[in-house]
Amino acid sequence: MAAAIEPRRVCRRPFGLSYAAMPDCSSMAQLAGPQGHVVGIDATPEQLAIARAHENWHRDRFGYPKSTVTFVEGDVSRLDELSFDNDSFDLIVSNCVINLIPDKAAVFAAAYRLLKKGGELYFSDIYSDRRVPAVLRANPILHGECLAGALYWGDFLNLAKSAGDPRLVSDRSLGINDLEIAELVGPVEFYSATYRLFKLDGLESACEDYGQAVRYRGTVPEAVHNFVLDKHHDIDAGRLFPVCGNTYRMLQESRLAPHFEFFGDTNRHYGIFKGCGTDLPFSREAQRAVAGGSCC
Ligand SMILES: C[S@@+](CC[C@H](N)C(=O)[O-])C[C@H]1O[C@@H](n2cnc3c(N)ncnc32)[C@H](O)[C@@H]1O
Repeated sequence: MAAAIEPRRVCRRPFGLSYAAMPDCSSMAQLAGPQGHVVGIDATPEQLAIARAHENWHRDRFGYPKSTVTFVEGDVSRLDELSFDNDSFDLIVSNCVINLIPDKAAVFAAAYRLLKKGGELYFSDIYSDRRVPAVLRANPILHGECLAGALYWGDFLNLAKSAGDPRLVSDRSLGINDLEIAELVGPVEFYSATYRLFKLDGLESACEDYGQAVRYRGTVPEAVHNFVLDKHHDIDAGRLFPVCGNTYRMLQESRLAPHFEFFGDTNRHYGIFKGCGTDLPFSREAQRAVAGGSCC
């Protein structure tokens, strides 16, 4: 499943940032169109050299009069050392980079700072079902396989929730076929997953139901029949689709807004949005009042 992330025709001058030079930069440049601009950051000079060597080939293939990509050498956990303006990027894409970086909190904080309000961090990485033991984190073979620095999903969610409401787009279990590696990692299970995280102030910590709904116009060119926001929101074109308060805001206050009609407000609250993972923790069955019982 692929979610539609296309920034073209929605932002006046789409401005994207890619962690790692290739191949994500060329895909983003194509999506952003000839008026857009993409910055590719990579810490490895050899990777940047390969990316630069293919820059004109991609420009010709897209039919752009000039390249719309700039490659920059840098560490994405120390982006403040590069002179990017705060609130300047529409979209930041990261593919299998965060697991390689020890200070993952710094990566999320920097991305959040650089995104415009309503901008989005779209990232794929490796996650584990438990914290990877220190001895495995220091193993160079596992580092090379992008497993040593895998984020335990529980820690990741706490980290990402401090920056908003991370939405799972797709995931798959990673089978380990190499016997040596399988023996090293033992019971630790690994997953590849893609999340999207919108920069919106004041998102709620859970999906709250205000009776709001959206209708997708079917106007994203690559998704005329349905728009997949995330794993739980596959929105048919033309059909009224009930959404929680956070989803409503992600669609209304981001580059996706022109593709939707919006219905309702937050004046009336109906409780937690059903089916969003959280539910009422209390039993709904009425208890007979016990005379003289305590108040709680
Ligand atoms: C596994 S590759 C992924 C590359 C690309 N996204 C792809 O999917 O093919 C990881 C990339 O992250 C880069 N990288 C590793 N640590 C980094 C850091 N701290 N800052 C920026 N780039 C980093 C590496 O140089 C490498 O190009």
